[in-house]
Amino acid sequence: MIDLTGKTAVITGGTRGLGLVTAQEFIAAGANVVISSRSEQAVEQAVASLPAGRAAGIASDVGDREQVKALADFALQRFGSFEIWINNAGLSAPYGPTAHVPPELVERVIHTNILGTYHGSAAALAHFLPRRQGKLINVLGRGSGKPVPNQNSYASSKAWMRVFTLALAKEYRSRGVGIFAYNPGLMFTEMVGDVDVLAGYETHVGALETVLRMWGNQPQIPARRMAWMASTATDGITGKVYNELTTGRLLGGALKEAIRFLLGRDPGEKRLTIRSVEPALPDIPLPGKKPQ
Ligand SMILES: NC(=O)c1ccc[n+]([C@@H]2O[C@H](COP(=O)([O-])OP(=O)(O)OC[C@H]3O[C@@H](n4cnc5c(N)ncnc54)[C@H](OP(=O)(O)O)[C@@H]3O)[C@@H](O)[C@H]2O)c1
Repeated sequence: MIDLTGKTAVITGGTRGLGLVTAQEFIAAGANVVISSRSEQAVEQAVASLPAGRAAGIASDVGDREQVKALADFALQRFGSFEIWINNAGLSAPYGPTAHVPPELVERVIHTNILGTYHGSAAALAHFLPRRQGKLINVLGRGSGKPVPNQNSYASSKAWMRVFTLALAKEYRSRGVGIFAYNPGLMFTEMVGDVDVLAGYETHVGALETVLRMWGNQPQIPARRMAWMASTATDGITGKVYNELTTGRLLGGALKEAIRFLLGRDPGEKRLTIRSVEPALPDIPLPGKKPQ
């Protein structure tokens, strides 16, 4: 049984998906939580859905340094301290080759995933280091270990996050703070349920439905893993990358899907909504597409 009694966790992007489920799991383990996202209304709704007195939140865009500082100040004011900070807020750009993705959508990924992780890590360490305690968890994703064509901005932001987190852990290795990167693997959340794709590339993401069936987790599993990472179980450890998508899980998921296929069982409800986005560079054909 994981015990986080007396601890407070700041969870960015805590209004839905993995962030909200993590808030629920942390509260169940005894912690108080402070959640944030860009939407004041979403924060209010999410806080209201959590046990009264155990959760608080403010709107804070992680890509904005002042708003992240305000989030840290809010947590201190509301609960007196915080011992855990999770940089969970993240988003991706439409599926497709990089120069054809509208630039503002690539910039949004850099703003949230890269700048957000930097601002959140800096705010957390400013509080943790003088106290020689605290757990910082940066949430990775697909591409943190290798290039992923057509998901380049998201994947390379996660690779940046992994390297950034490991360097931080080395810089502050003997300062009593646990600094971790965590790849939760594929999960059934809004991020993968609503997929944006460059118009003309819709068929490229057709297999995602099967991939989700094979390897998708409910977010409760990664949320519990993060509760474990934030607990005394990792005291004295830093600079670790934890990964939910193990070889066992990959093989097990593929086997389950093969059996379903061989037995002709219904795959169940469709979970994906695919939205087409007009590509940038309208005069230059997308790779793999013939000029009109
Ligand atoms: N779902 C997966 O299969 C999967 C797999 C591997 C890794 N991950 C990672 O897990 C994390 C959570 O993903 P998820 O699937 O739970 O996503 P999600 O359901 O789309 O939720 C993302 C959360 O982040 C918030 N957010 C986005 N941009 C923000 C910003 N600039 N500032 C503050 N909050 C922001 C969103 O709220 P607002 O939009 O209201 O701001 C929302 O609360 C992400 O880092 C993602 O990369 C997900």
